[in-house]
Amino acid sequence: MLIKTDRDGFTHPITGEVTPRAVYQDRRQLLKWMASGAAGAALASWAGREALAQQVQRAGKLAPLNAVRSAVPGAVTMEKVTDYKDATTYNNFYEFGTDKDEPAKNARTLKTTAWTVEVEGLVKKPGKYALEDLLKLAPQEERIYRLRCVEGWSMVVPWVGYSVSHLVNKVEPLGNAKFVEFITQADPKTMPFVGSRVLDWPYVEGLRMDEAMHPLALLSFGMYGEVLPNQNGAPVRLVVPWKYGFKSGKSIVKIRFSEQMPKTAWNKAAANEYGFYSNVNPHVDHPRWSQATERRIGEDGLFAKKRKTLMFNGYEAQVGQLYAGMDLKKNY
Ligand code: MTE
Repeated sequence: MLIKTDRDGFTHPITGEVTPRAVYQDRRQLLKWMASGAAGAALASWAGREALAQQVQRAGKLAPLNAVRSAVPGAVTMEKVTDYKDATTYNNFYEFGTDKDEPAKNARTLKTTAWTVEVEGLVKKPGKYALEDLLKLAPQEERIYRLRCVEGWSMVVPWVGYSVSHLVNKVEPLGNAKFVEFITQADPKTMPFVGSRVLDWPYVEGLRMDEAMHPLALLSFGMYGEVLPNQNGAPVRLVVPWKYGFKSGKSIVKIRFSEQMPKTAWNKAAANEYGFYSNVNPHVDHPRWSQATERRIGEDGLFAKKRKTLMFNGYEAQVGQLYAGMDLKKNY
């Protein structure tokens, strides 16, 4: 088995985070750890952080989107949530410009009314699904995920949505469907940079069927208790927390089921830099920079320490088995 574990990464991500991450994510281990007497003051700090994570404030900017706290294992990190302002002004959404502040400035032209998502390809129930129906397809859950961008920064965002698997099950893929492709909006009238040569539009991403069926793969309609702001991919986007952020396609208009591995936008642009899998992996560097550490947005002070990047972005316990036996250096 070629999957590497990152025990260091799991113990002390930054100074001051004294509770081993694997411990507080696993109740049985937590009880053992408490019984061992090692808990002490660390537990108080853990409880404090849990309280923090449990109280995500609505931003009060957009329509509320009510959600129940997710019970999916690993779906709620206890780490400090990134400020709404940072999460909505430091974006990658190249259809609206390549600078981080451009999506927030330019995405107000995105038209999100009368939105439909077309399902096609190898499924029993293809068709156009209205956003209103998709919103009701499964209970909306709040999930607090780490998002690690391939560029070396990360955030912690309270998303609202439900597992992609609910939609996949509804449309009933055929037996030969092996991949799911997510095709996003590319409207030159409302998206000023569609037509620029930076990517071959539309922005397309894809997952292997078992990845799409993993409960952590999220179809997201909101964040911070409200509908998605345009710059974050309104009205519906993907969030795949164990993969680099670019797998999380924004403003999805089409979902296609296929037998062949889809050609994704970044893979077409630079195949040697962006593979299909794009799992967060601190042991496989980007050809032009290291992936071993990351800068957490909001911790950017002069003396802020970089964090160690965790294997599968810290979701190894949940998703590692999807890649058992695969060479992750080749399948980057
Ligand atoms: N989706 C579309 N349609 N266009 C994009 O340029 N950028 C990706 C991804 N989804 C992108 C996209 C990248 S590189 C990242 S890191 C995340 O969106 C950023 O999501 P955020 O701005 O909500 O943090």
